[in-house]
Amino acid sequence: MSDRKILVTSALPYANGPIHLGHLVEYIQTDIWVRFQKQRGNLCYYVCADDTHGTPIMLRADREGITPEQLIAQVGKEHLADFTEFSVAFDNYHSTHSEENKAFSSLIYERLRDAGHISSRSITQAFDPVKNMFLSDRFIKGECPKCGALDQYGDGCEVCGTTYAPTELKNAVSAISGAKPVDKESVHYFFDLANFSDMLREWTNAGHLQPEVSNKLAEWLDGGLQQWDISRDAPYFGFEIPDAPGKYFYVWLDAPIGYMASFKNLCDKQGLDFNEFWSKNSDAELYHFIGKDIIYFHALFWPAMLSGAHFRTPSAIFAHGFLTVNGEKMSKSRGTFIKARTYLDHLNPEYLRYYFAAKLSAGVDDIDLNFDDFSQRVNSDLVGKVVNIASRCSGFIAKRFDNKLSEHCSEQALFHEFVAANAQIAEHYEAREFGKAMREIMALADKANQYIDELKPWLIAKEEGKDKELHEVCTMGLNLFRLLAVYLKPVLPVLAGNSESFLNIDAQAWPADAKPLLNHVINEFKPLMTRVEADKIAAIIEASKENLEKTAEAPKAKKCEPIADTIEFEDFAKLDLRIARILKAEHVEGADKLLQLTVDIGDETRNIFAGIKSAYSPEDLEGKLTLVIANLAPRKMRFGLSEGMVLAAGPGGKDIWILSPDEGAQPGMRVK
Ligand code: MSP
Ligand code: ZN
Repeated sequence: MSDRKILVTSALPYANGPIHLGHLVEYIQTDIWVRFQKQRGNLCYYVCADDTHGTPIMLRADREGITPEQLIAQVGKEHLADFTEFSVAFDNYHSTHSEENKAFSSLIYERLRDAGHISSRSITQAFDPVKNMFLSDRFIKGECPKCGALDQYGDGCEVCGTTYAPTELKNAVSAISGAKPVDKESVHYFFDLANFSDMLREWTNAGHLQPEVSNKLAEWLDGGLQQWDISRDAPYFGFEIPDAPGKYFYVWLDAPIGYMASFKNLCDKQGLDFNEFWSKNSDAELYHFIGKDIIYFHALFWPAMLSGAHFRTPSAIFAHGFLTVNGEKMSKSRGTFIKARTYLDHLNPEYLRYYFAAKLSAGVDDIDLNFDDFSQRVNSDLVGKVVNIASRCSGFIAKRFDNKLSEHCSEQALFHEFVAANAQIAEHYEAREFGKAMREIMALADKANQYIDELKPWLIAKEEGKDKELHEVCTMGLNLFRLLAVYLKPVLPVLAGNSESFLNIDAQAWPADAKPLLNHVINEFKPLMTRVEADKIAAIIEASKENLEKTAEAPKAKKCEPIADTIEFEDFAKLDLRIARILKAEHVEGADKLLQLTVDIGDETRNIFAGIKSAYSPEDLEGKLTLVIANLAPRKMRFGLSEGMVLAAGPGGKDIWILSPDEGAQPGMRVK
């Protein structure tokens, strides 16, 4: 037994919505790592909780005519049921609306305040005079000041992509009551993050973060640290600030403290020592698995809060990327915003655990769930390679040898090669390089299948006097299968558990020095995993579309932009629009939205950067005819000079359509 003591967390999911496949990237990733640590014999605890506070939860409870407490109890139960069925095995699943969390939030706040890290001042904010509540940007709607699109949120326009302050919206209304917001002053409490800039600069560079994350943080730190507004006015569902009646902690203040609270709850249940893990001089390891969208909270605010309140800081923060489905952001209308429950209604959860494992690395790259690839990998790796070995060998052991393995085995070298692979596989798991671990394991599975293909037990079985050989080949096959199952156990606990029952053995530890299983009676073989059926995937997508119709919020008024002011013909004639042929289209290093186009407009070629990457790939464009404004003043962009503009329509994202002329038009022709 090692003396590592490890506490692991995943981010606390919001209690205002169901668990979906995007979430599961994180909980499955964390669970695999934790199971690996436990299998290695390390002392490891995995805690989580529902993140229950904030305005959306209060409003949803209101709408449903129940109390927030009832709502979060219901959602908490659903979340935990989803996780459990995906074999995400928390040692404790708690709630941020708990006594422990209230106590720690107050304690941390008071310690920060007493050390001079909290200040208060009055700020002006939009206020809903009907609902009598302050409105955050998300709860104000109006017309975009830039393009005039209706029904846009207070923080930015989804149509033209402009970001602005809610006060700039035209005809703004409260999204809750529809009333016109008024400006109102109120005292807010702030955490003076700037007091921690030296501490954070050091901490973010001391190996606690992935390299790409600490680079990002260096940029943020260079930008200067603002005071963090940690209070919200009543009505708010959260904890009241101890010395400020009517003021509540902002949900993100008490959310990470929920990690401590959940662990404290576990300590009280199991008699563990909380301080051993959280005190300043703790020698335990503390890891937070999170998505890349919440790095700021975990790598800046959280270590500053902990250090200011005299607790230990995390050993490391492991950020992961976002899930896309079939190459695109999850989308309710495409049926790719898939709830955990919808998946569970149709498919084996271990398929997804394996697929995510095969795609996960230690980095923050997004990962794509492509359903063709998903079926293909699961069917060929798990069903075709791994389970197949067991089914190929077990039949003979049952029929010819009374379910008993042979006393000796000839091919010990192969078995030892499999055991020796444990070090490399363990290294990959430890480093969260699960994709590499899976490749390593599948290479072994290939070898096991080759062994059986070469020795052909199905032929030996027909020959007289070859019983011993047949017995030994099948025994070796099952021994190799046993090692594959134990290597896959962090990822596929159910498959591994069923394999252990089949082999009639105890739960397997990490096989650092495993011996072959010989002269041992096994149980009857039952199919361990079946192939992914294509119609099940179609059913999931269909059901995810239905979900949408049933739960759809009030449809947004889908109106066109208003027609612009009238112009004279002379104004129009100023535009020099030309037919252009796209000669070349390329990605731009470092640009998320842009493609670089080289276009022929007759007597010259132009370089144009166009914000159409979300809708077109370069191959779609090369050779195409389109329209450009040829006399637009050149614009200096971060990536170079743009000499014109391609004409396109649509709100953005996938929905952008570039214009093209009817057949016959030639590059250089003027549009009149
Ligand atoms: N409540 C906060 C976390 C507080 S932690 C003290 C929150 N909740 S969340 O429900 O929105 O997300 C929970 C976790 O799931 C986050 O780490 C988030 O990054 C992750 N994911 C949510 N959607 C995701 C994808 N589409 N893909 C991958 N991970 C995603 O944030
Ligand atoms: Zn706009």
